[in-house]
Amino acid sequence: MTTLKMSLPTKSLVIPVGLPGSGKSTLLRGIEERYGLAGFRYGADDVRKTMFGDVSTQGNPALVHGAARAMLEVRMAEGLPSTYDATNLTLKARRPLIELCDKYEYTAVLLMARISYDTAQSRNRGREEGRVPGHVLDRMNRQLNDGEWMKACQQGRSGIPYFFDEDTTDIEVDWLA
Ligand SMILES: Nc1ncnc2c1ncn2[C@@H]1O[C@H](COP(=O)(O)OP(=O)(O)O)[C@@H](O)[C@H]1O
Ligand SMILES: [Mg+2]
Repeated sequence: MTTLKMSLPTKSLVIPVGLPGSGKSTLLRGIEERYGLAGFRYGADDVRKTMFGDVSTQGNPALVHGAARAMLEVRMAEGLPSTYDATNLTLKARRPLIELCDKYEYTAVLLMARISYDTAQSRNRGREEGRVPGHVLDRMNRQLNDGEWMKACQQGRSGIPYFFDEDTTDIEVDWLA
């Protein structure tokens, strides 16, 4: 059990990067609760839950993510710390988030899941809802090669990515002005 410590400007957009089952939502919920930040965490699955009643109905990805990003933007327009809770595995997926950071002068903070594929697989299998089919997890895993990680690291406006591990159970934030 370890606590990850992050230093974040108020106007930060935390962009988690990791396979389903890596523990992103759990950690992000922890930040939301610890600092009483209602609305801090939002993402594609929240749109699915609202519009379909469950997170396993994928829907049209462009529309689902477009709706989730519109919610995010409502928050960023107010200068509030935010996170976009999705897998964010590819440059293409992250680009619109970086654009929002540029628009609202936010720091993009990459939060990378340093989680083995085995662990992601077994957590994905064990979850109550939102279990991703095995072949989809496989395909996503292939997108997560080292090159993709390097690109992700370079994409952050701050240039400093954070990593969490299999034993990271919570995140503590030092909020900068
Ligand atoms: N540190 C952890 N140790 C063990 N199980 C975990 C841990 N973090 C999350 N889980 C479990 O793994 C599953 C996936 O976690 P979740 O946070 O939803 O991952 P993601 O959002 O990356 O898909 C959930 O069932 C969750 O309870
Ligand atoms: Mg999640």
